[in-house]
Amino acid sequence: MNIKRIDYKEIDSTNLEAARLATGGAAEGTLVVADAQTAGRGRRGRQWESPQGAAIYMSLILRPEAEPERVSGLTLVMALAVVQALEKLGLSGCQIKWPNDIVMNRKKLCGILTELHMENGKVSDVIIGVGINVNQECFISEIASTATSIYVETGRRIDKDVLIDAVISAFAQNYSIYQKTYDMTNLREDYHAFLANRNHEVRVLDPKGEYEGIALGINLRGELLVRKQDDTIEEVYAGEVSVRGIYGYI
Ligand code: BTN
Repeated sequence: MNIKRIDYKEIDSTNLEAARLATGGAAEGTLVVADAQTAGRGRRGRQWESPQGAAIYMSLILRPEAEPERVSGLTLVMALAVVQALEKLGLSGCQIKWPNDIVMNRKKLCGILTELHMENGKVSDVIIGVGINVNQECFISEIASTATSIYVETGRRIDKDVLIDAVISAFAQNYSIYQKTYDMTNLREDYHAFLANRNHEVRVLDPKGEYEGIALGINLRGELLVRKQDDTIEEVYAGEVSVRGIYGYI
Protein backbone atom coordinates (compact mmCIF):
# COMPACT_ATOMS: atom_id res chain seq x y z
CA MET A 1 0.00 0.00 0.00
CA ASN A 2 1.41 3.39 -0.98
CA ILE A 3 0.97 5.86 1.84
CA LYS A 4 0.35 9.50 1.02
CA ARG A 5 0.31 11.51 4.23
CA ILE A 6 -1.47 14.85 4.46
CA ASP A 7 -0.90 16.93 7.60
CA TYR A 8 -3.13 19.59 9.15
CA LYS A 9 -2.48 21.84 12.13
CA GLU A 10 -6.17 21.72 12.93
CA ILE A 11 -9.18 20.11 11.29
CA ASP A 12 -12.76 19.39 12.34
CA SER A 13 -12.17 15.63 12.31
CA THR A 14 -9.61 13.59 10.39
CA ASN A 15 -12.37 11.05 9.64
CA LEU A 16 -14.52 13.78 8.10
CA GLU A 17 -11.59 15.17 6.11
CA ALA A 18 -10.63 11.70 4.91
CA ALA A 19 -14.25 11.13 3.83
CA ARG A 20 -14.24 14.42 1.91
CA LEU A 21 -10.97 13.50 0.23
CA ALA A 22 -12.28 10.02 -0.59
CA THR A 23 -15.39 11.53 -2.18
CA GLY A 24 -13.03 13.65 -4.27
CA GLY A 25 -11.26 10.49 -5.47
CA ALA A 26 -8.31 10.20 -3.05
CA ALA A 27 -6.55 6.87 -3.37
CA GLU A 28 -6.26 4.00 -0.91
CA GLY A 29 -3.37 4.76 1.42
CA THR A 30 -4.18 8.45 1.83
CA LEU A 31 -3.47 9.24 5.47
CA VAL A 32 -4.89 12.34 7.13
CA VAL A 33 -3.02 13.46 10.25
CA ALA A 34 -3.92 16.46 12.42
CA ASP A 35 -2.35 18.13 15.43
CA ALA A 36 -5.77 19.06 16.80
CA GLN A 37 -9.43 18.36 15.99
CA THR A 38 -12.27 20.78 16.68
CA ALA A 39 -14.98 18.13 16.26
CA GLY A 40 -13.23 14.84 17.06
CA ARG A 41 -15.72 11.98 16.94
CA GLY A 42 -15.88 8.77 18.92
CA ARG A 43 -18.08 5.72 18.51
CA ARG A 44 -21.83 5.92 19.13
CA GLY A 45 -21.93 9.63 18.40
CA ARG A 46 -19.65 10.50 21.30
CA GLN A 47 -17.13 13.30 21.19
CA TRP A 48 -13.40 12.60 21.15
CA GLU A 49 -11.47 15.24 23.09
CA SER A 50 -8.76 16.41 20.68
CA PRO A 51 -6.60 19.21 22.08
CA GLN A 52 -3.50 20.37 20.27
CA GLY A 53 -0.23 18.53 20.65
CA ALA A 54 0.08 15.46 22.78
CA ALA A 55 -2.08 12.92 20.96
CA ILE A 56 -2.25 11.30 17.55
CA TYR A 57 -5.33 11.92 15.42
CA MET A 58 -5.21 10.18 12.07
CA SER A 59 -7.46 8.55 9.48
CA LEU A 60 -6.56 6.18 6.69
CA ILE A 61 -8.52 5.78 3.47
CA LEU A 62 -8.99 2.23 2.19
CA ARG A 63 -10.76 1.00 -0.91
CA PRO A 64 -11.23 -2.71 -0.31
CA GLU A 65 -12.83 -4.77 -3.06
CA ALA A 66 -15.16 -6.72 -0.80
CA GLU A 67 -18.70 -7.00 0.44
CA PRO A 68 -19.56 -4.63 3.31
CA GLU A 69 -19.86 -7.48 5.84
CA ARG A 70 -16.26 -8.47 5.04
CA VAL A 71 -15.02 -5.00 5.80
CA SER A 72 -16.02 -4.66 9.45
CA GLY A 73 -13.08 -6.87 10.48
CA LEU A 74 -10.69 -4.16 9.33
CA THR A 75 -11.27 -2.31 12.55
CA LEU A 76 -9.81 -5.30 14.46
CA VAL A 77 -6.94 -5.39 11.99
CA MET A 78 -6.09 -1.80 12.91
CA ALA A 79 -6.39 -2.52 16.65
CA LEU A 80 -3.91 -5.33 16.19
CA ALA A 81 -1.57 -3.00 14.28
CA VAL A 82 -1.63 -0.45 17.11
CA VAL A 83 -0.62 -2.99 19.79
CA GLN A 84 2.00 -4.48 17.50
CA ALA A 85 3.47 -1.01 16.90
CA LEU A 86 3.49 -0.23 20.61
CA GLU A 87 5.31 -3.50 21.30
CA LYS A 88 7.80 -2.70 18.55
CA LEU A 89 8.62 0.57 20.32
CA GLY A 90 9.24 -1.39 23.51
CA LEU A 91 5.88 -0.59 25.12
CA SER A 92 4.71 -3.97 26.28
CA GLY A 93 1.57 -4.69 28.29
CA CYS A 94 -0.99 -3.13 25.97
CA GLN A 95 -4.11 -5.15 25.27
CA ILE A 96 -7.16 -4.99 23.04
CA LYS A 97 -10.61 -4.63 24.55
CA TRP A 98 -12.89 -6.12 21.93
CA PRO A 99 -13.43 -4.95 19.32
CA ASN A 100 -10.92 -2.18 19.02
CA ASP A 101 -10.01 -0.21 22.13
CA ILE A 102 -6.40 -0.38 23.21
CA VAL A 103 -5.94 -0.44 26.97
CA MET A 104 -2.97 -0.28 29.28
CA ASN A 105 -3.32 -1.02 32.98
CA ARG A 106 -7.08 -1.19 32.48
CA LYS A 107 -7.38 2.31 31.06
CA LYS A 108 -8.03 3.35 27.49
CA LEU A 109 -5.05 4.48 25.46
CA CYS A 110 -6.49 4.42 21.97
CA GLY A 111 -9.85 4.41 20.22
CA ILE A 112 -10.67 3.49 16.64
CA LEU A 113 -13.63 4.71 14.59
CA THR A 114 -14.23 2.91 11.30
CA GLU A 115 -16.70 4.35 8.82
CA LEU A 116 -17.79 2.73 5.60
CA HIS A 117 -19.24 4.52 2.60
CA MET A 118 -21.22 2.85 -0.15
CA GLU A 119 -21.88 3.89 -3.74
CA ASN A 120 -24.24 2.08 -6.11
CA GLY A 121 -24.53 -0.83 -3.70
CA LYS A 122 -20.76 -1.29 -3.42
CA VAL A 123 -18.17 -0.27 -0.85
CA SER A 124 -16.58 2.90 -2.19
CA ASP A 125 -14.25 3.60 0.73
CA VAL A 126 -13.55 2.75 4.32
CA ILE A 127 -12.10 5.33 6.70
CA ILE A 128 -10.26 4.02 9.73
CA GLY A 129 -9.74 6.77 12.30
CA VAL A 130 -7.27 6.26 15.12
CA GLY A 131 -6.83 8.40 18.22
CA ILE A 132 -3.85 7.52 20.42
CA ASN A 133 -3.09 9.22 23.72
CA VAL A 134 0.67 9.64 23.59
CA ASN A 135 2.24 12.39 25.68
CA GLN A 136 -0.62 13.83 27.73
CA GLU A 137 0.23 14.36 31.38
CA CYS A 138 -3.36 14.43 32.62
CA PHE A 139 -6.96 14.30 31.40
CA ILE A 140 -10.08 16.38 31.95
CA SER A 141 -12.11 15.17 34.91
CA GLU A 142 -14.89 13.63 32.77
CA ILE A 143 -12.51 10.99 31.38
CA ALA A 144 -9.73 10.97 33.97
CA SER A 145 -10.85 7.69 35.55
CA THR A 146 -10.99 5.83 32.25
CA ALA A 147 -8.40 7.40 29.93
CA THR A 148 -4.65 7.23 30.00
CA SER A 149 -1.63 8.02 27.83
CA ILE A 150 1.64 6.29 27.07
CA TYR A 151 3.41 8.97 29.09
CA VAL A 152 1.15 8.55 32.13
CA GLU A 153 1.60 4.78 32.14
CA THR A 154 5.30 4.53 31.33
CA GLY A 155 6.91 7.93 31.91
CA ARG A 156 8.23 7.74 28.35
CA ARG A 157 7.77 10.49 25.80
CA ILE A 158 7.23 9.02 22.38
CA ASP A 159 7.80 10.76 19.06
CA LYS A 160 4.35 10.82 17.48
CA ASP A 161 5.70 10.46 13.93
CA VAL A 162 7.69 7.38 14.86
CA LEU A 163 4.55 5.80 16.33
CA ILE A 164 2.42 6.79 13.32
CA ASP A 165 4.94 5.15 10.98
CA ALA A 166 5.05 2.01 13.12
CA VAL A 167 1.23 1.73 13.23
CA ILE A 168 0.80 2.30 9.50
CA SER A 169 3.52 -0.16 8.57
CA ALA A 170 2.05 -2.83 10.89
CA PHE A 171 -1.39 -2.12 9.44
CA ALA A 172 -0.14 -2.40 5.84
CA GLN A 173 1.30 -5.80 6.62
CA ASN A 174 -1.86 -6.99 8.41
CA TYR A 175 -4.07 -5.59 5.64
CA SER A 176 -2.29 -7.57 2.95
CA ILE A 177 -2.75 -10.70 5.06
CA TYR A 178 -6.44 -9.87 5.65
CA GLN A 179 -7.01 -9.34 1.93
CA LYS A 180 -6.05 -12.94 1.19
CA THR A 181 -9.27 -14.19 2.81
CA TYR A 182 -11.18 -11.05 3.83
CA ASP A 183 -11.62 -12.50 7.26
CA MET A 184 -9.52 -13.10 10.39
CA THR A 185 -8.25 -16.58 9.38
CA ASN A 186 -4.59 -15.60 9.37
CA LEU A 187 -4.70 -12.88 12.04
CA ARG A 188 -6.94 -14.40 14.68
CA GLU A 189 -4.15 -16.01 16.64
CA ASP A 190 -2.21 -12.74 16.85
CA TYR A 191 -5.38 -10.86 17.80
CA HIS A 192 -6.17 -13.39 20.53
CA ALA A 193 -2.69 -12.96 22.00
CA PHE A 194 -3.61 -9.36 22.86
CA LEU A 195 -7.30 -9.80 23.65
CA ALA A 196 -7.94 -8.66 27.21
CA ASN A 197 -11.47 -10.06 27.31
CA ARG A 198 -10.46 -13.61 26.44
CA ASN A 199 -11.56 -16.13 29.04
CA HIS A 200 -12.99 -13.35 31.16
CA GLU A 201 -16.49 -12.74 32.33
CA VAL A 202 -18.28 -10.16 30.21
CA ARG A 203 -21.62 -8.46 30.29
CA VAL A 204 -23.13 -7.99 26.83
CA LEU A 205 -25.28 -4.90 26.62
CA ASP A 206 -27.60 -6.17 23.91
CA PRO A 207 -30.58 -3.91 23.12
CA LYS A 208 -32.74 -7.09 23.23
CA GLY A 209 -31.55 -7.82 26.75
CA GLU A 210 -28.32 -7.84 28.69
CA TYR A 211 -26.60 -11.08 29.53
CA GLU A 212 -23.38 -12.32 31.01
CA GLY A 213 -20.97 -14.99 29.94
CA ILE A 214 -17.38 -15.91 29.29
CA ALA A 215 -15.69 -14.34 26.24
CA LEU A 216 -13.98 -17.17 24.37
CA GLY A 217 -12.36 -15.15 21.58
CA ILE A 218 -13.41 -14.04 18.12
CA ASN A 219 -14.75 -15.92 15.11
CA LEU A 220 -13.44 -15.36 11.58
CA ARG A 221 -15.76 -12.39 11.09
CA GLY A 222 -14.33 -10.73 14.18
CA GLU A 223 -17.46 -11.25 16.27
CA LEU A 224 -16.94 -11.97 19.96
CA LEU A 225 -17.90 -15.49 21.01
CA VAL A 226 -19.56 -15.46 24.40
CA ARG A 227 -20.49 -18.64 26.27
CA LYS A 228 -23.62 -17.93 28.26
CA GLN A 229 -24.53 -19.52 31.57
CA ASP A 230 -26.75 -22.07 29.77
CA ASP A 231 -23.68 -23.14 27.72
CA THR A 232 -24.99 -21.73 24.45
CA ILE A 233 -22.59 -19.57 22.49
CA GLU A 234 -23.53 -16.13 21.21
CA GLU A 235 -21.74 -14.41 18.34
CA VAL A 236 -21.72 -10.76 19.35
CA TYR A 237 -21.57 -8.39 16.41
CA ALA A 238 -22.62 -5.02 17.67
CA GLY A 239 -23.41 -3.73 21.12
CA GLU A 240 -21.05 -2.90 23.89
CA VAL A 241 -19.30 -5.57 25.88
CA SER A 242 -18.14 -4.60 29.31
CA VAL A 243 -15.77 -6.62 31.42
CA ARG A 244 -16.35 -6.78 35.12
CA GLY A 245 -13.56 -6.61 37.59
CA ILE A 246 -10.90 -5.84 35.06
CA TYR A 247 -11.30 -2.37 33.67
CA GLY A 248 -11.92 0.68 35.74
CA TYR A 249 -13.69 2.38 32.86
CA ILE A 250 -16.34 -0.23 32.33
C1 BTN B 1 -13.80 5.63 20.21
O1 BTN B 1 -14.88 6.11 20.57
O2 BTN B 1 -13.19 4.85 20.94
C2 BTN B 1 -13.23 5.95 18.86
C3 BTN B 1 -12.41 7.21 18.90
C4 BTN B 1 -11.77 7.54 17.57
C5 BTN B 1 -11.05 8.86 17.60
C6 BTN B 1 -10.27 9.12 16.34
S1 BTN B 1 -9.21 10.53 16.47
C7 BTN B 1 -8.91 10.48 14.77
C8 BTN B 1 -10.23 10.14 14.08
N1 BTN B 1 -10.99 11.34 13.85
C9 BTN B 1 -12.12 11.37 14.56
O3 BTN B 1 -12.94 12.30 14.56
N2 BTN B 1 -12.21 10.25 15.32
C10 BTN B 1 -11.09 9.36 15.09
